[in-house]
Amino acid sequence: PDGRPLAGRTAVVTAGPTFEPIDPVRGLTNRSSGKQGYAIAEALAELGARVTLVSGPVALAAPVGVERVWVETAKEMQAAVQAALPADIAVMSAAVADWRVDGVASGKIKKAPGGPPSVALIENPDILAGVSAPGKLRPKLVIGFAAETTDLEANARAKLSRKGCDWIVGNDVSDDVFGSEGNAVTLFTRGGDVESWPRQPKSGVARKLAMRIADHFKA
Ligand code: C5P
Repeated sequence: PDGRPLAGRTAVVTAGPTFEPIDPVRGLTNRSSGKQGYAIAEALAELGARVTLVSGPVALAAPVGVERVWVETAKEMQAAVQAALPADIAVMSAAVADWRVDGVASGKIKKAPGGPPSVALIENPDILAGVSAPGKLRPKLVIGFAAETTDLEANARAKLSRKGCDWIVGNDVSDDVFGSEGNAVTLFTRGGDVESWPRQPKSGVARKLAMRIADHFKA
């Protein structure tokens, strides 16, 4: 039998940006390489979990043993996450676009002498808040991310209660995080725990988080 600490557990992980079309050739997106989310999916799988990785457009290979579902928009990401439930663990690390275009043009918008077109935006669903909402399919452990440039602790705490998740991984993005190999994060739990982990490769952050998750289920 499989003696790994997360054997028999299931996880859904979101990673990467979403892409919200304006017309067939243009769109709105967020800065995210997907590296941290992919590393988390890999680390959970290494500890024995069955992992579904719901990924926006990124240039990364799927980790070994992980089932990847490609999505483009926030709405597609939300549907793919729903389809991956029930799961014991949800880690929402994607950089979801907060808005999508209302009334995507079916043909390429032409440049016109009258000046640039205006684009109306509507709010995207909050996938993390949706997954965190009480209900039969709520994962036992729901983890969100908070990328902040200021007031990391206050913002992370506010996010914990606003979203209803169990843990928030806060990262200070005021310097070089996007697309880089390293990350310095602080874990905030609903129970009031705070753990700061030194700057290290994203794979190290992922392994630490996966171990922390395994400990949570052991306890
Ligand atoms: O509110 P904010 O975007 O700062 O929250 C970040 C956290 O919420 C991340 O875990 C991100 O994956 C998640 N999120 C989401 N759906 C959104 C916006 C954010 O799942 N529409």
